Amino acid sequence: MKTRKLRDLEVSAIGMGCMGFSTAYGQTPTEAESIRLMRKAHEMGCTFYDTAEIYATYRNEELVGKALKPIRNEIILCSKFSPVALPGQENIEGGKLSLNGVRTAVEESLRRLQTDHLDLYYAHRVPQEIDAEEMALWFGTLIKEGKILGWGVSEATAEQISKANAVTPLTAVQSEYSMMARQWENNVIPLCHELGIGFVAYSPMAGGLLSGKYTSQTEYKGDDIRRVISRYKPENVISNQPIIDFVKLYARNKQCTPAQISLAWVMKNEHIVPIPGMRSEQRIAENLGAAEIVLSDEEYAALTKELDKLKVYGERTDEQIAELGELRTKLYGGSGVHFKKQT
Ligand SMILES: NC(=O)c1ccc[n+]([C@@H]2O[C@H](COP(=O)([O-])OP(=O)(O)OC[C@H]3O[C@@H](n4cnc5c(N)ncnc54)[C@H](OP(=O)(O)O)[C@@H]3O)[C@@H](O)[C@H]2O)c1
Repeated sequence: MKTRKLRDLEVSAIGMGCMGFSTAYGQTPTEAESIRLMRKAHEMGCTFYDTAEIYATYRNEELVGKALKPIRNEIILCSKFSPVALPGQENIEGGKLSLNGVRTAVEESLRRLQTDHLDLYYAHRVPQEIDAEEMALWFGTLIKEGKILGWGVSEATAEQISKANAVTPLTAVQSEYSMMARQWENNVIPLCHELGIGFVAYSPMAGGLLSGKYTSQTEYKGDDIRRVISRYKPENVISNQPIIDFVKLYARNKQCTPAQISLAWVMKNEHIVPIPGMRSEQRIAENLGAAEIVLSDEEYAALTKELDKLKVYGERTDEQIAELGELRTKLYGGSGVHFKKQT
């Protein structure tokens, strides 16, 4: 497997997003199967794993910790600090948004992940009430303490990134990026390149749509996030069909799959590393195989020119995902913790 550098952190060119093993995309595999698949990805060359304390409220970190313990020294492990207090964190001294709050959260993540340090620890969102510089100081302290080796921010603006990076150099920015979500393409992505910051693309396949295997008839059950994200509304899936058809056509010409073309396009720039979610051996092989699909400058330009002409219908926002709380209450009588819209 080829590798890439996120600043000075060497990772496999494609990583594994582990969220779906515990939440977000409908029925999850059994614990044993999830553990097997995470280890199988490593056998196939993956060394870069992503989780967060908020995924299934701690359960995903526990699962990832169990799965990766035997190979901990061979992989790069990342987690994320939630800016909202999760259950059990309401009474942290100083509040969750404080140096003590971040330190307490990372210590708990380390315990759940069965490790003594994280290679990369992100602020899952930069909260409006805190200056990016102040947050950078907290994470810089965790680096000095050896709890984390590097830090990152997720869904941050170019201004927040510049300010934070000036205080404690960022290893990576993790934000949504795919052929159907190009909002960071003209500002944050070039800025990261200029500042030597890696860019980790989450939902690089628009939650599966770009694989061409989902249609307007696909039913999402239970608390699958695709029930609240507007991109999956049947009318938007139909309106977005020209993008899927185009990707399928391009894949046929290049003799690979649509999933592989969509990942190869995302990772055209060397500082970008996608972290698809994938829960079958076949999909892991398919997605990791995308590292071998190289688009020439001409192919990339031609693809991008076509994409520029196609309007994208629907999106994925924190506000939409916050609606899951209501859906869960309706389904299970409980609730979940989600981010509020930041900007
Ligand atoms: N920072 C943030 O705010 C944030 C937000 C969201 C996600 N993330 C991270 O990013 C990771 C990836 O995000 P994501 O899961 O939304 O990414 P994604 O890869 O765009 O979407 C995952 C979905 O696509 C399907 N899929 C993947 N490969 C496929 C293939 N070859 N053919 C058909 N379907 C395929 C998966 O199916 P199966 O799983 O059923 O195989 C799953 O339903 C997460 O696991 C999480 O670690 C971060």
